[in-house]
Amino acid sequence: MTVSRRQVLLIGGLGAAGAAATLSLPFGTVEAKSASALRDSDMPRPFRTPLTIPPVLQPKYTTVDATDGKKVNHYVVTEKAANAQILPRVGLTTPILGFDGLFPGPTIKLDQHTKAVLRVRNQLPSHHAIGGHQLATSTHLHGSASLPQYDGYASDVTLPGFYKDYHYPNFQPARTLWYHDHQVHYTALNAYSGLAAQYHLHDPLERKLLPQGEFDVPLTVNDVMFASNGALGYDDNDHSGLWGDVILVNGRPWPTMKVKKRVYRFRILNASISRSYRWALSTGAPFTVVATDGGLMPVAKQVTSFRHSGAERYEVLIDFRNYAPGTKIELRNLSNKNNVDYDYTGKVMQFEVTGDPVDTTDPTWNTIPTALAPLGSSPYDPMALKSSQATKTRRFRLKKSDITNLFSIDDSSWQDVIASNFQKVHADPALDAVEIWEFENSSGGWFHPLHIHLVDFQILARNGRAPSAHELGPKDVVYVGEGETVRLLMRFGPHKGKYMIHCHNLPHEDHDMMVQFGVGLVPGTYDPNDPMTAHPAEWDDED
Ligand code: C2O
Ligand code: CU
Ligand code: CU
Repeated sequence: MTVSRRQVLLIGGLGAAGAAATLSLPFGTVEAKSASALRDSDMPRPFRTPLTIPPVLQPKYTTVDATDGKKVNHYVVTEKAANAQILPRVGLTTPILGFDGLFPGPTIKLDQHTKAVLRVRNQLPSHHAIGGHQLATSTHLHGSASLPQYDGYASDVTLPGFYKDYHYPNFQPARTLWYHDHQVHYTALNAYSGLAAQYHLHDPLERKLLPQGEFDVPLTVNDVMFASNGALGYDDNDHSGLWGDVILVNGRPWPTMKVKKRVYRFRILNASISRSYRWALSTGAPFTVVATDGGLMPVAKQVTSFRHSGAERYEVLIDFRNYAPGTKIELRNLSNKNNVDYDYTGKVMQFEVTGDPVDTTDPTWNTIPTALAPLGSSPYDPMALKSSQATKTRRFRLKKSDITNLFSIDDSSWQDVIASNFQKVHADPALDAVEIWEFENSSGGWFHPLHIHLVDFQILARNGRAPSAHELGPKDVVYVGEGETVRLLMRFGPHKGKYMIHCHNLPHEDHDMMVQFGVGLVPGTYDPNDPMTAHPAEWDDED
């Protein structure tokens, strides 16, 4: 749903970047036509550029873990500033910050039970060009049950000139993860500038059921706004959120993808720092949702549209078998309440069906599976849990604090965690405890994509009713719309330690809607996995 003109005014989305392109209407209101300050001839337009697929990062070398005999892939990525050609005028480039200088960064792909060590080298400039803050980064692999010291704990930062080795266990079932910056108080600007990328964990079940290779397509979606010189604009409306007027898919504005007459799998990551989407195809054809944040759903669900907030991942099948070559199909965004929309934010990308031959020896070419992951097929499968197993119910209120006027969780924020020298925890489940957590968003005009680190959860209910069809799978981010209360069920393990809980509208997270919980910790005793001390960054003396 498009917000009213009045709401646009109230949200105040017409800051520095937007003022240049507003339109006065006779009844005295202002409509946001665009947020970018580019000359009209420099503005990108839908469907004029081909979709590109980020490169796959290759391991530098592999080893074997002597403790369990598992293979370990060793990767290196370098965070650095670069100029990206996003806009149509050749030479009008956009300064970005990227893993290996790419927006989005390279995709990591590996098999379940192959471990990974990701060395992240911070070779960024000392300060962010827009925010002015020191670029002290922390890399989070979102979707991985990593130990706390490798989880991108916001305050466990790596300064320019340093590197950190992140160890990823990859014991979880196949899923779409993503790695992104998590710098304390500056996650929004750093991720917006490009520090985000997909990470695909494969397993035999998913390989058998779903399209692979060129038919397994990552789609990383962000909205951005541009300054007149092609740089990214930034206006987070007093930390409410950033709503750009240009939609990028894999770093290209409203691209076109050529597809064969077969079934495709798309891994849609909403990497927007604030915007949520409601996807639909211009033909009205359904998406078959096969996987959520934590991997395969028990049963595939067909939906003609679904809402998708920041950091959620949905894997969908789209069936192009019945379209004549030359047919163009748009992926559209029908939007949701509490977003700000512009002329072209209702469009995302376009598919163009070709007559190219289809390899029908690949059984996934025409398969739309129904039964997917059998319940309990992995030890921490949240879909196999029953509410009756829960030993505790906790309730959290998502709001703007009456005390600080910042976004908060029960009036608590990351500033309180810092002030406690990282000791304060908001919840303290025992190791392997099953609990129900409820999140209530009854204040204000915002939706909150709520993310819990470490765990996959099952959504039991929203406002006392069944969750939507597309979210009936393992999740780690839940859309908590205005006026909504969600009820979640999860088991806390397999690691002990401190993990973050936060809103994934990143300006909210940074100001300062983030707290932490401790799994199996006894206050006052030594925590071998303390994320601030167990594995700090090291000086990088290689060139
Ligand atoms: Cu995707 Cu704590 O973040
Ligand atoms: Cu996460
Ligand atoms: Cu929020």
